[in-house]
Amino acid sequence: MSILNIEGGRPLTGKLPVQGAKNSALPVLASSILCETCSVIHNCPRLSDVDASLRILECLGCSVKQEADTITVDSSGINRFDIPDNLMREMRSSIVFLGPVCAKLGRARLSFPGGCELGPRPIDLHLSALRQLGLTIEEDHGWLDCTAKKGLRGADIALSFPSVGATENIMLAAATARGNTVIVNAAREPEISDLADFLNKCGAKISGAGESVITIKGVDSLHGCEHCVIPDRIVAATFMAAAAITGGEICLTNVNISHLSPVLPVFIEAGCEISTHQDSLVIRGPVKLKPVKCVRTMPYPGFPTDAQAPVMAMTAIASGTSLFIENIFENRFKHAAELVRLGAMIKVEGRVAVVEGVPKLFGARAEATDLRGGAALVVAALAAEGISELHGIRHIDRGYEKIEESLSRLGAIIERVQ
Ligand code: EPZ
Repeated sequence: MSILNIEGGRPLTGKLPVQGAKNSALPVLASSILCETCSVIHNCPRLSDVDASLRILECLGCSVKQEADTITVDSSGINRFDIPDNLMREMRSSIVFLGPVCAKLGRARLSFPGGCELGPRPIDLHLSALRQLGLTIEEDHGWLDCTAKKGLRGADIALSFPSVGATENIMLAAATARGNTVIVNAAREPEISDLADFLNKCGAKISGAGESVITIKGVDSLHGCEHCVIPDRIVAATFMAAAAITGGEICLTNVNISHLSPVLPVFIEAGCEISTHQDSLVIRGPVKLKPVKCVRTMPYPGFPTDAQAPVMAMTAIASGTSLFIENIFENRFKHAAELVRLGAMIKVEGRVAVVEGVPKLFGARAEATDLRGGAALVVAALAAEGISELHGIRHIDRGYEKIEESLSRLGAIIERVQ
C-alpha cells in the first residue's frame, strides 16, 4: 500500500503535458474486440484502469502489447465470452465490454460490476438498450448470461438519461448489427465523439456523435486502425485547481481547449487568469480565491461531475461561500468529510454541498474515498500549511498517471511512500 506525503504552501509553476483521457481509452480498448485486424492506440495513459482493461482483453484471448503510451491489440485470437468476476470487479466500467463481446461472439457472460464509491451504479439503461438490439439477457445471482442467437439487429433507442456508458455500449453493439440504430438522448461527452472517430476509422458508419441523436448504420465487419486518444479534460481541470489553490502559474500542454469550456468560467469566477493557445492553456491563481456562487454538475456540455471534487477543494480557501449541486451521482460528496480533516468548512445535505471558505488549510492524515475525491485531497494538501499524509492512493492511480511525478515537475513537495 502506498501513501502520498505532501508538504503544502508552494505555488505551482512550470509546464506539464496532460495525459490521454482514461474515459476515452477504456471504451476504445474494449472496441478493439470488434476489429478483425490489429489496432494501434496512442496516447493511452498508464493507469491501473487501463491495466485492468488489458487483462480483460488478454483473458478473452486477445493479444496486447504496451510500449510507453502506445497499445497494440490483436483480437483475432479471441476465444472466450466470459469475463471472470475478479476482473469485472476491478473496474466499474468493465460493463462496456458487454456490447462488443456480444457483437463479436453472439454470447457474453459477466458478473454485475460491483457498486462503487459513488453510490449504486445501475446498468438498467445498458441492459434495456441491448435487449432492444436483440440480446437475450438472463440475470442470475449477480451474473449476466447474454445471447444473441440471431445476431444483433438495429433499433431506435431512446435513453431516459444520457448515460455515457450506455451510449458507448449501444454504439459498440450496433456498429456491426444488421440494420440501422438511432440513439435519442445520447451522451454528448467528448469521449463519445472520440469513440465514434475510432470506430469510423475502423470502417463503422456512425454519425451525430457529440450530439443528442447518434445514427449507426450496421456494417458487416470492422478492421483495425491507428488512433490517438484525446487529452484528459478532467486531469487538466484537476491540475488547474492545483495551480489556482496554490496561487501559482502553470502551462498545460496537449489540452483540447473546447473540451474545457464547461469548466473555464468557474475558474475565472474564482479569480484565475487564463490564456489559451492552440493546444495549451496558461492558468494563474489569484492571491486570494473568490467563491463560486453555484456549480451544478450536468451531462456534457454542462459542468462535469468528475471535476466537482477537485474544484470543491479549490474553493475551500476562497473568500466566501461556494455552492455545489451534484446532479449526476447519488453519493459523490464523500471527499467533503476528508477535506474537513484539513480544516475545510463544508456542509453536505443530499445533493447539495455548501463550502464556507476558510483562511487556510492544515496538513493532516486523510483517506481517498474514490478517484476524484482522492484528487481533491491532493489539491487541498498542496495549499495546506504543513504536511499531509494521504492514504487510499490506489484510487488516485486509477485515473492519474504518476501524479507525484507530475506535481513534482510543477514544484510541489510530494513523495510516494510504499
Ligand atoms: C462515465 O461513467 C465515466 N466513466 C465517469 O467517470 C463519469 O463520472 C460519468 O460517465 C458521467 O460523466 C467512464 O467513462 C469509464 P453514466 P458511467 O452512465 O458511464 C446513472 C471518473 O471519475 N445510470 O453517464 O458509469 C448512474 O447511476 C468516472 O473518471 C443509470 O441509472 O456514467 C449515474 O447516476 C466516475 N442506469 C448517471 O446515470 C444506467 O444503466 C450517470 O451515469 C447507467 C447509468
